Amino acid sequence: MKLFIDTANMAQVEEIASWGVLDGVTTNPSLVAKEEGANFKDTVIAMCGLVNEVSAQVTGVTFEEMKVQADEYSSWHKNVVVKVPMTVEGLKTLNYCSAKGMKTNTTLVFSVSQAIMAAKSGATMISPFVGRLDDLGMDGMDLIADIMEAWSHYKFDTQVLVASVRNLEHVTRAAKLGAHISTIPYKIFTELPQHDLTDKGLKKFMEDWETVQGK
Ligand code: G3P
Repeated sequence: MKLFIDTANMAQVEEIASWGVLDGVTTNPSLVAKEEGANFKDTVIAMCGLVNEVSAQVTGVTFEEMKVQADEYSSWHKNVVVKVPMTVEGLKTLNYCSAKGMKTNTTLVFSVSQAIMAAKSGATMISPFVGRLDDLGMDGMDLIADIMEAWSHYKFDTQVLVASVRNLEHVTRAAKLGAHISTIPYKIFTELPQHDLTDKGLKKFMEDWETVQGK
């Protein structure tokens, strides 16, 4: 399972990458907007120096607009993944990128039919947004289960990237379902290695060690 961080913050990428567990980064216009003063291109290129796959989202609406941005982004660094919205114009862009050997991530996927359309268009990854389905009172992870079940019948190369992750449970359920990737916000990433029993156990080991040293 690949683990990505969902952020446009370089310091967060540097920290998690230093743990040696980070495979990629996903950014989007909303995350970029939070990083005041940061230059998008420079940030993406710097992130590409730390991880193998960095999703940079196009902001064009038409195929022609997206195509120009896809060409530009992919010229920045070999690790750039062109992120494209799940629209008909986006599907055309996915086909274009696939033919040119560019990696792609299809964003804002909310149904199995959209997942199939993106896969048929040659998407490298698809991003179903589980948290936003949870927001509507649904169980977003059901969509991941449905997509993985559909994938089990065919030979799609398209990787399922669980996005809009809001809690640890999303990550563990993604792993149990065999999803290829989870993209995880920084705060949740810092919770992944934690467990109360680890902290308590370590404290006890240290106390016992001190006792032995005192003898
Ligand atoms: O990976 C997509 C993510 O950035 C969206 O998350 O929490 O805004 O639904 P959220």
